[in-house]
Amino acid sequence: MTNAYKIAILEGDAIGPEIMAQAVRVFDVVSAHRDVAFELIHSPFGANAYFSHGKAFPEETKTVCDTADAILKGPVGLSHAESSKIPVEEQAERGAILPLRARYNTFANFRPIVLSPEMIHFSPLKPEIIPEGIDILLIRELVGGLYFGDKERGVNGSGLRFVKETLEYDEQQVRQVLEVAFQQAAKRKHKLHNIHKSNVLMSSVFWNEILEEVRVGYPDVEVVHLLVDAAATALCLNPAQFDVMVMENMFGDILSDQAGGVLGSLGLMPSACIGPEKAYYEPSHGSAPDIAGRNIANPYSMIGSVAMMLEMSFNMSAESDAVWQAMKSVFESGHSTADLATSGEHINQVSTTEFGDLVMQQLDKLLR
Ligand code: IPM
Ligand code: MN
Repeated sequence: MTNAYKIAILEGDAIGPEIMAQAVRVFDVVSAHRDVAFELIHSPFGANAYFSHGKAFPEETKTVCDTADAILKGPVGLSHAESSKIPVEEQAERGAILPLRARYNTFANFRPIVLSPEMIHFSPLKPEIIPEGIDILLIRELVGGLYFGDKERGVNGSGLRFVKETLEYDEQQVRQVLEVAFQQAAKRKHKLHNIHKSNVLMSSVFWNEILEEVRVGYPDVEVVHLLVDAAATALCLNPAQFDVMVMENMFGDILSDQAGGVLGSLGLMPSACIGPEKAYYEPSHGSAPDIAGRNIANPYSMIGSVAMMLEMSFNMSAESDAVWQAMKSVFESGHSTADLATSGEHINQVSTTEFGDLVMQQLDKLLR
């Protein structure tokens, strides 16, 4: 019997629709070669949804997402000037992304940081630092910490305006993401970098206590403790020392963008946001309003997010591998989008749609 999957497609804002248009082509190519059907349901989400429906995450979109087997989400948000026309609580980050994460409790955010040896010229690092390329899995806690803690603004006893945001985790929240990280480490190189700030933050002391409990179940995984500031340096000086890294929400937000810089572009950062019942997939980068509508954005992160969906939601590892392989061979044949085109000598710059064409041609061959 044909497997049939229903996928909510949330294109998002600015470059979102352009890169999404390339990513969804993967579903056509895969279903042309395999006994599987994908039903794509486009739904409004983000700033565009606010303007058309009055809500950044409209009710009808929630219903579609609730009944979908998986959700594919493009980047959302507008320029600072455009965003300021939207009430703060309906701006795309607070009004759409965070509620999406909370709704499906997508606590484990997988952010692969990968550069094959043939692609190391994209990185601003010297080639001798990364002769074997980079292959890191950054796991970010995604539904706790400062992002979701209580917030307060007011005037204090001295008549001064103040703000307060709280970093809160319960043991269950910490344990569940650490379990996922240990499982991944056990599947990969048996090495887990635990990133924290226990020299200052009580939340990190707590996190590390839970880690000591969880690690008992994974005796063959080596744990390396690293303070988050030192981890930022280490990511630049020697990224090859890392395999799996785990950290709380805010640390993960910052280090994952730094990792994009180490690769050479945020356009190389797909991600998966996994909850107990539902997962959604999105690029780690923003919506790049400055280059929207010019057909120059890099669709790799968006297409890579589909590859992650095939593997993690639909158990289609071979097809997922083929998508990665297709993108790699496009890069290896010397083609890349504008964000990466300055970083090599013989690069043939291609548009968003041309990159998509090349990837789909390769994918089509690989799935035959
Ligand atoms: C990310 C993004 C989001 C975050 C924003 C857009 C809310 O930067 O996914 O890394 O901070 O988590
Ligand atoms: Mn971020």
